[in-house]
Amino acid sequence: MAEELIISTSTDKQERYATLVPQIQSLIEGETDVVANLSNITAALKQTMNFFWVGFYLVKDNQLVLGPFQGPIACTRIQYGKGVCGASWKEKKVILVPDVEEFPGHIACSSASKSEIVLPAFKNGEVVLVLDVDSDKLNDFDAVDERELGKVMHLIERFL
Ligand code: SME
Repeated sequence: MAEELIISTSTDKQERYATLVPQIQSLIEGETDVVANLSNITAALKQTMNFFWVGFYLVKDNQLVLGPFQGPIACTRIQYGKGVCGASWKEKKVILVPDVEEFPGHIACSSASKSEIVLPAFKNGEVVLVLDVDSDKLNDFDAVDERELGKVMHLIERFL
């Protein structure tokens, strides 16, 4: 495992992701503990991408329960189908929200959050967790985030 994260100084997010994704792969290699891996992934994403909030919600007893994250304190439980995270779980798909105020039922854990992307991870065809990333800027996520964070979700699916 790498002892220190190498962070690209590029202002281009594609380049920052390109430096980060292989390091995430090395970070989780040889470690099977889900909480340990998710914790390091949130830290690596926060350090590299400087997201306002980045973290996981895990499906437990038919709810989403807050898992490892970096950023301000957040809602601990989200019901099936509720908010952006619950919708991603229910619809089994990535949801990109350019303006959270335009998303019906958005759950505002922080009033500073303006845009959001949520990606599900699957085990045996079922969603077992979602990655939620929030920005304090409007329209901050695009197809690059969807593709690169999607690669991270595939790495996560290896140890679920
Ligand atoms: N906004 C999310 C809730 C989680 S927080 O943003 C950390 C949602 O609507 O599901």
